Amino acid sequence: MKTIVLTIDSTCPESEAIRRAADVIRAGGLVAFPTETVYGVGANGLDPAAVARIFAAKGRPATNPVILHVADPLCMLNVAASWPETAAKLAARFWPGPLTLVVAKRPEVPDIVTAGGPTVAIRCPSHPVARALIRAAGVPIAAPSANRTTELSPTRAEHVLKGLDGRIDLLLDGGPCPGGLESTVVDVTVSSVRLLRHGLISVPMLEAVVGQVLIDVSSGGAARSPGQMEKHYSPRTELRLVEADAIVEDLLEARRAGKRVGSVMFHGVGLVPANAIHVSLPADPALAASLLYETLFRLDGSGLDLILVGRPPGGPEWAAVRDRLTRAASRPPGDAGR
Ligand code: TXA
Ligand code: MG
Repeated sequence: MKTIVLTIDSTCPESEAIRRAADVIRAGGLVAFPTETVYGVGANGLDPAAVARIFAAKGRPATNPVILHVADPLCMLNVAASWPETAAKLAARFWPGPLTLVVAKRPEVPDIVTAGGPTVAIRCPSHPVARALIRAAGVPIAAPSANRTTELSPTRAEHVLKGLDGRIDLLLDGGPCPGGLESTVVDVTVSSVRLLRHGLISVPMLEAVVGQVLIDVSSGGAARSPGQMEKHYSPRTELRLVEADAIVEDLLEARRAGKRVGSVMFHGVGLVPANAIHVSLPADPALAASLLYETLFRLDGSGLDLILVGRPPGGPEWAAVRDRLTRAASRPPGDAGR
């Protein structure tokens, strides 16, 4: 199939482009669109055949449930069977925005969305293009990140095309996504709120609203949440996390071994030069998050043998960046270059 690309204004989306994209969704097709976190690849979330196309396009295993996106906070009523007090408090504080809430599902939600489970993940995005599209489609939109499974999530339209060109019907190019990292995923079906994936909303931000949050993002046991799978969010080039103050030594050693090596650190203050293979990302966690995938995409396309990344600082506000880098760095034994 040929993927149609339509450019669209990210603050004031043109209604003609939204109408065309909504028509594709209603007809059971796939549309990639920007959100405030990363680009998603969406389908009618109430149509199992349409959602199955997302899994095929991404090469995603059927055991991984997807998020349903709603246009307005109250639209969760169409898909959620219950709405605990913690969900209400978190939605009141963070919706529309980069927070995904896992709750009991209504029977209308197809099994393929929830991987056969009794819960559904719901998010009300704040990006004007995402909201306009969901509203115009008139259905909740099932949308994982618009990348092939295990690869980096796209923060620009070009990244989406790298992985999914010819596999989706339409791409709304609304420019770069402001947040740059996926939403925080939280399970509110249990009495204490459980964090399933670190994201743009940090644990201290959640705890300020609902008190103590249990952190359950490990990859051990059954994959309750595929974002917990250890190898995920990976560039194709080998990525190694190293101690920040030893990175120069490690870099020189890799060079002596004949490797073409690039590096990422978190000491920066200003703009990142467009073609540098040694990148200092901002020392601010939100700014670093907004540039992380974009930087990794670029280094991944720079013909390197190795990307060295200096460990980001400790502290809860860096948890999402640390989490993605740890997963990007993990390769199964014997997996030499994918
Ligand atoms: O920021 C985001 O969340 C982006 C944009 C497009 O909204 N979407 C995204 O979707 O990152 P995806 O499919 O790449 O990640 C969805 C995460 C996975 O970690 C998945 O395990 C979890 O949400 N999830 C989905 N449904 C779930 C459920 N019923 N129970 C537990 N976790 C669930
Ligand atoms: Mg993803």
